[in-house]
Amino acid sequence: MAKKIILDPGRTFSEFCLLTGHTKRQGTISDVTLQTKLTDHLTLKLPLLSAAMTSVTGYEMTLALGKEGGLGILPARLTVEEQVDIVRKIKDYEMGFVSEPITAREDATVEEVLKLVEQFGHSKIPIVDRNNVFSGMFIQQHYWEIDVALQDPVASAMIPFGTQEISACQKPSITVDEAKKLLKSNRQRYLVVLDDLNRLVKLAFQKDIEKIKVGAAITTFKGWRERVEANVEAGVDLIVVDTSDAYSDFVVDVMKDYKKMGMPTPLCVGNVITYDGAMYLMQKGADIVKVGMSSGSICTTHREKATGRAPMTALIEVGKAREDYLQKSGRYVSLIMDGGITCSADMIIALTIADAVMMGYYFNRFYESAGEKLDRGGQVTRDENQMASVVTWGEGSIRAKNLNRYGHVTRKTFFEEGVEGTVPYLGRLKPTLKNDMMKIKAALSNAGCLNLEQLRANAVIELNSPYAGKIVGDAHDIAMKDRS
Ligand code: IMP
Repeated sequence: MAKKIILDPGRTFSEFCLLTGHTKRQGTISDVTLQTKLTDHLTLKLPLLSAAMTSVTGYEMTLALGKEGGLGILPARLTVEEQVDIVRKIKDYEMGFVSEPITAREDATVEEVLKLVEQFGHSKIPIVDRNNVFSGMFIQQHYWEIDVALQDPVASAMIPFGTQEISACQKPSITVDEAKKLLKSNRQRYLVVLDDLNRLVKLAFQKDIEKIKVGAAITTFKGWRERVEANVEAGVDLIVVDTSDAYSDFVVDVMKDYKKMGMPTPLCVGNVITYDGAMYLMQKGADIVKVGMSSGSICTTHREKATGRAPMTALIEVGKAREDYLQKSGRYVSLIMDGGITCSADMIIALTIADAVMMGYYFNRFYESAGEKLDRGGQVTRDENQMASVVTWGEGSIRAKNLNRYGHVTRKTFFEEGVEGTVPYLGRLKPTLKNDMMKIKAALSNAGCLNLEQLRANAVIELNSPYAGKIVGDAHDIAMKDRS
């Protein structure tokens, strides 16, 4: 007889609804922040990590996600040299000017400009006249706060050039260093560079001068110390001990040795799925714990060896361990939910407990992911206009054979725990990401929360029956118009 048989079924994110809370006047979408503090030394603007998967996270994904405020985790499957090279490139990434900004003409409608915002994911669109003379800036946040109709000319929704909020300089030859200084001194988020006739030349953005963050995965196998040392020296912001099952002596040994090495970089360990596993790691000093097993989009772990747990149940149990540990020790341990999060609604439910989410499938679908891009005929293509799908594969697949993540010392014991496949291509990351972040902010606003800390403290979530799930989960009882 098994020691314990749990008959309550495991749960996933989409089975829950987030209930509404009291939304205050100062609690609208634009008042909400998604910043998350993972440790005293690591705060992210967005609670998002891209999975340490060779088909997902390389230089391009780390850069694109890092620019938006998330964190790419470079897979341990890469060689130390490959990881370090990317970390250096990310840390050395220098702001450049946007020399051909997307603009709109003064006589465009608000609706037309909103389409550009949606298509390119830029929240600021310079408005120019027919001679490219700068007349003002359309700023999404400002638009939310004013009362204009979609068919109104954008001039009525922009912040006109000449007002204090517009930060501009008439020096087309301005250097990056000068722009940096100017941005710092006038505390603006952007700088519009004009020529002497006020024609738009280029733009510079504050967020491009902040250092982009990057993380690197290690395993518990020989060579991890050298990997850590090289990455830390290159300036990595987070080390992730990436194992499929972290409730083990091996992970704790690494954690202890890591602390002895006196490394300044925060360490995340995972993955665990049980109360006991999480409590064990926390008691042994874990700063950040990663949660999840068997729920990844490419994962066949449960099919092959029955291990794993439904992701929301795993998170709830680990969340309980975190609460109990906090009560006893006074130490708050951050949680990262990893695997099975596919959309903004999943993220929202996960963030009622977790401090951040890690995703593979979600990021795999974008231009910046590391997977090959295929055209409609299934041929590899580099032509952005032809891209229709993206190749994905798990770290436990034959293709990646990340032996150490799954505890295999030699190839002889290896068996597949992941598959290779494709996911639909969605274009560049930024527009979809911005849109999804907006949805998360809207949910927080509905729940009466201004930030993720308040969400974790005050969220009320409710499980649906399968019948209720059908009614609340999506539109129903109608013939659906094509959504694509
Ligand atoms: P996704 O967001 O649902 O695609 O899940 C991503 C997560 O799946 C990763 O961060 C890993 O924790 C996990 N994972 C990656 N590769 C494999 C595999 O081959 N087998 C099982 N799990 C995997």
